[in-house]
Amino acid sequence: MNIVNKIISSYLNNRSLYIGEKITMSEHMIQTAMLAEKAKCSTNLICSCLLHDYGHFILENPDELVNKMEDGKHEDIGCEFLEKYFIREVLEPIKYHVKAKRYLAREEKYYRLLSEASKISLKLQGGVMDKKEAEEFENNEFFLDSIKLRKFDESAKRLGLKIKTIHEYEKLLISKLI
Ligand SMILES: [Fe+2]
Repeated sequence: MNIVNKIISSYLNNRSLYIGEKITMSEHMIQTAMLAEKAKCSTNLICSCLLHDYGHFILENPDELVNKMEDGKHEDIGCEFLEKYFIREVLEPIKYHVKAKRYLAREEKYYRLLSEASKISLKLQGGVMDKKEAEEFENNEFFLDSIKLRKFDESAKRLGLKIKTIHEYEKLLISKLI
């Protein structure tokens, strides 16, 4: 099976709920991509959004765990798997979307609006960023796209929204292969 078919079948077969939420992981990722489309983002970023939590699919399937990591760093596990197939511009925002949350959480108002599940995972992910790390992050080539991805990620938890099928993203996925 080629990689795009494999990815499509993961979306179709995965019925697990997004952590602490009431929609499935697949629905959550598709909603994230749809928000990026609505905001007229680049096709690279739309593809990043679509794949941003792919690491969770891998974590749930131990057979595919290339590298056993106890703390379950889903962004690293996802990228480690995807980097064999996808271009860098798609991968980098995925790699940094957790960092983006740690960056944004520096703002009191943002932190307060995080869901309980998200506050708990923030702690596990290293907590709020300090000033030095935040400045370094701002200089990262993919800083803005990572922040955008993170914001779409947070809004992509709506119940009962009519969403696209993963098949509608097949051409996009193919176009971003190495
Ligand atoms: Fe997410």
